[in-house]
Amino acid sequence: MNPNQTFLHNTLNGQQIASLQFLKALPKTELHLHLEGSLEPELMLKLAKRNNITLPYASVEAVREAYDFHNLQSFLDIYYQCADVLQTEQDFYDLTWAYLLKCQEEGIVHVEPFFDPQTHTARGLDFKIAITGIYNALKDGEKKLSISFGLIMSFLRHLTEEEAFECLEQAQPFLSYIVGVGLDSSEQGNPPEKFTKLFQAAAEQGLKRVAHAGEEGPSTYIETALDTLTVQRVDHGVRCTEDDKLIERLIREQIPLTVCPLSNTKLKVYEHMSEHPIVGLLERGVNVTVNSDDPAFFGGYLLANYMALVNDLNLNRAQAAQLAANSVSSSFLNDNQKQIHLNKIKDLTQ
Ligand code: ADE
Ligand code: ZN
Repeated sequence: MNPNQTFLHNTLNGQQIASLQFLKALPKTELHLHLEGSLEPELMLKLAKRNNITLPYASVEAVREAYDFHNLQSFLDIYYQCADVLQTEQDFYDLTWAYLLKCQEEGIVHVEPFFDPQTHTARGLDFKIAITGIYNALKDGEKKLSISFGLIMSFLRHLTEEEAFECLEQAQPFLSYIVGVGLDSSEQGNPPEKFTKLFQAAAEQGLKRVAHAGEEGPSTYIETALDTLTVQRVDHGVRCTEDDKLIERLIREQIPLTVCPLSNTKLKVYEHMSEHPIVGLLERGVNVTVNSDDPAFFGGYLLANYMALVNDLNLNRAQAAQLAANSVSSSFLNDNQKQIHLNKIKDLTQ
């Protein structure tokens, strides 16, 4: 093949399109990942068998066929049902370890995953089962795979603030296991301000704060997450595109948005990836990052999300490197740890 052809094929307006190899080599963090959403059908069926649980699916294919969502709630209904197979500390360990192996394959150097304790305590599991299994796997990942971590405990926003306070109370003996708290589940009708007192209590306990806002809910939820929950990051936040003043604020204050492209198309926030605003927001100076949300349900892990941007939005190397750098600088790593990863990204782009 004429080498010029390859060159032309890989460039657009003089900018080199990011290759899979380049994306993999970039040190990346993942800041928006629900561990329960990384439960692959194969492991789900294995755990169902191990725990004598009957699922409405007979095969891996049947599970995948059920993953045909039309909005957030249609996904959440299946997602909570699938979590039933997680019963023991070992199950949570296996789930987390499988995710960490994926991270290693994809060049992810640091993770800040979510878990939803209330999904499990509501089924009668002791609070400590999920957190201990997850934490042990993350510690092993740090030792054996050199992947650092900060675990985030998420509250379910469709439940009451009082129930969330009970969850925070149960977490007290394990505060050293978590870096912060989050807010997820059904967004519309459950605005951030429903949890103002809870997030204030979490802040007083020295915990970082993040919240899903502006995924399906209106852009005003992004503002109230910032102003009433005092969050350091907004999860999703893509509906900021409806309010120019808000975009200006996000740029001015460099608020990180943990964006999840494949999730947004799978849950029909956008019909097609070509409509996704992430690259446009990046170009305007918004601090956006790429994440996989619930990769086992949405068709791909972090690199698949980057590749979707390459294929449908012509993501170039400079943009990819900026997204990776944003993921590092928006993490809860300390400044020294951030600098090590940022230097490597800089070396790769020279
Ligand atoms: N829980 C798991 N994934 C979620 C999402 N994308 N939005 C809200 N809650 C979730
Ligand atoms: Zn999410």
